[in-house]
Amino acid sequence: MSDLRKLTLFAGVAVLAAAMSMAGLAAEDASGGPVHRGSVRPYMLAPAHDGVTVCWISERECVGRLRWQAEGVADWREAAEPAAGRFHSVRVARLQPATEHRIEAFSGDTPAGDLAYRSLPAPGADPGGGLTFFVYGDSQARSERHGLVAAGVLAEARRLNQFTFILHLGDFTDKADDHAEWARQFFRPAQETLRRLPIVPVRGNHDGDGASFRMFFPQPEPPGGAPGDTDRLVDCGPIRVLVLDRFAPESTAEARRK
Ligand SMILES: [Fe+2]
Repeated sequence: MSDLRKLTLFAGVAVLAAAMSMAGLAAEDASGGPVHRGSVRPYMLAPAHDGVTVCWISERECVGRLRWQAEGVADWREAAEPAAGRFHSVRVARLQPATEHRIEAFSGDTPAGDLAYRSLPAPGADPGGGLTFFVYGDSQARSERHGLVAAGVLAEARRLNQFTFILHLGDFTDKADDHAEWARQFFRPAQETLRRLPIVPVRGNHDGDGASFRMFFPQPEPPGGAPGDTDRLVDCGPIRVLVLDRFAPESTAEARRK
């Protein structure tokens, strides 16, 4: 693991994508099925040693709420959005590092789903039993194939029982501006996996102008970043993953240098 001290990943680099993606499977989605008004079950973003962000889409406008509990601790803590909407994004904050948490999401008063999050080891800290992150991409087009990949990732994560997250290399769907397709091609086939593994998203060339990407993957409280920034930075114990969006406009170059 020592040679993984720093990993800088440039979005669009094809080596990892070619090794682990489902390239060549692009075809019309045969399994599709109806999308229930585009609702999306809770998933986790921006994993850190002290927090994680939970996002989901409810069927109706409401206020999104979370409550969470650290393993071995009786108290629940809570956070809620300031206003009602259908897309929800709530940060679980001030966690202890390297600790199991149970998280419950609510659309108003209605349960929206529960998640499990093992907070990452603090930056630079020894991860003890180890860490593994899963890299794949091109989940577009073939939902059933994506479902198999996502199920395999979850099974392996459970077997390893380490600190973990998913690095998705982009091309989430065929049509970037079709939110129902995001649900059908990306979120729904992976929803069981995304309850347990946070995702670090990279924008691909099929992800359009990034409007949908920024909606589904808002980056909360980016350290030194601008709202809507599509670069990503994840510190996980001894490794740092830096994602630089090759499609980002020149105007972000100044912030990026920081
Ligand atoms: Fe692709």
